Amino acid sequence: MAKLKTVFVCNSCGTTYPKWSGKCNACNEWNTITEEVVEKETKQEEKNRSWKAEGTGKITRKAVPLSQVEANNIQRQVSGDEEFNRVLGGGFVPGSVILIGGSPGIGKSTLLLQLALNVNMKTLYVSGEESEGQIKLRASRLGTQHENCFIYTETNTNKMLKQAKAIEPDLLVVDSIQTMSSPHLESMPGSVSQIRECASEMQRFAKETNIPVVIIGHITKEGTIAGPKLLEHIVDVVLQFEGDRNYSYRILRTIKNRFGSTDELGIYEMQATGLREVSNPSELLISQKDDDLSGSAIAATMEGMRPMMIETQALVSTAVYGTPQRSATGFDLRRLSMLLAVLEKRGGLPYGQNDVFLNLAGGIKVDDPAIDLAIVSALISSLEDVSVPADICFAGEVGLSGEIRSVSKIEQRIQEADRLGFKQIFISKFNTKGLNPERYNIQISTIGKVEELYKALFE
Ligand code: TYD
Ligand code: MG
Repeated sequence: MAKLKTVFVCNSCGTTYPKWSGKCNACNEWNTITEEVVEKETKQEEKNRSWKAEGTGKITRKAVPLSQVEANNIQRQVSGDEEFNRVLGGGFVPGSVILIGGSPGIGKSTLLLQLALNVNMKTLYVSGEESEGQIKLRASRLGTQHENCFIYTETNTNKMLKQAKAIEPDLLVVDSIQTMSSPHLESMPGSVSQIRECASEMQRFAKETNIPVVIIGHITKEGTIAGPKLLEHIVDVVLQFEGDRNYSYRILRTIKNRFGSTDELGIYEMQATGLREVSNPSELLISQKDDDLSGSAIAATMEGMRPMMIETQALVSTAVYGTPQRSATGFDLRRLSMLLAVLEKRGGLPYGQNDVFLNLAGGIKVDDPAIDLAIVSALISSLEDVSVPADICFAGEVGLSGEIRSVSKIEQRIQEADRLGFKQIFISKFNTKGLNPERYNIQISTIGKVEELYKALFE
């Protein structure tokens, strides 16, 4: 008979303690330790599981030299969703477990139901969050019908996996890990030990049956997937679905991928009839602007492996109150302060007496340093109230002494700008190695310091 035992588990890192305490000593988080019931194995059970136990642990498989292992070409199952395939590195690897995280209401359930309906495979969509009727409602909103998509509402992993075994789908979707609970454990669904147990049960199921499993996970307010980091170690692929709820763009990002690159990115647009794949993101992120509006400049940025043109907008106005305001949407505020300090010191421009507001179009967040040059141009353009021509774009990082530094993947950026019909691109003069300007129609202008920018743009 199993005996009940409680332990105290940190919800942030998964460390267990015999006693409650306010702070986790392992990860230094406060108020993350909760009590959980775990099942304790009896001495006999423990003995049976031990590698020392006689009889039970007959070795059936032996370690083999790697050189003798036959390489099996993985046959990826391609889904109907090009963006999803791209993010996975070409399609579903049989037996892989994919975790997809995202904040509530971002569209995780929509994405996966749509995937289940559009994919050319038999799918089982297990939901612990919505009823069959609700899922049907969503499916009819998406407007696609699929004969081979099965719905099962259940929160018990045992029943779910039994059902999955009976139906034998080509793909299993679980919405969400936080609502699932294993009957082997006493603790609440969503607790650290339940999440860990359910995830490893699904992992075992996937490896035994070769059926790929997609698990939806909620994220905490800090933006990490709820539950211990351990969950991310168990699964093969971790994807993050993100976006600003006030805008319709959604980005599917790879955080971890055992079978492919983590540089890939999928872009969607949320519409009334579901998510639309966006194969050409640049067109969405450049707002339709009149030629003569000051304070806006376009940056040639990279998100992973994908080039994206993003419009940056700045507003510089005289400060009414003593301390000027600084505000940035989609861009690091401290970096904005640094760029302003550089402009003030090197360019002699008086930002110290002005309020500065910065905004990236489309509610997108960018941490590519190559966006600096466009931001600096937008700032100068707004201060001087002269517009930057709409067919110019920028790619360069600004250093502390005002130098324009080179950025990675410059050729892809130029290519994208060229493809979209830009007439001129400004890059760092240190970025020209191996670059052949003849290959592009776009005019490539190099620049060494921020001081030169003003001259190059407005004189
Ligand atoms: P949902 O998939 O339920 O989010 P999650 O599972 O991540 O919590 O997405 C819900 C949001 O998506 C909701 O606010 C409405 C919106 N939505 C659309 O705009 N169009 C649609 O076709 C659907 C199904 C949802
Ligand atoms: Mg959902």
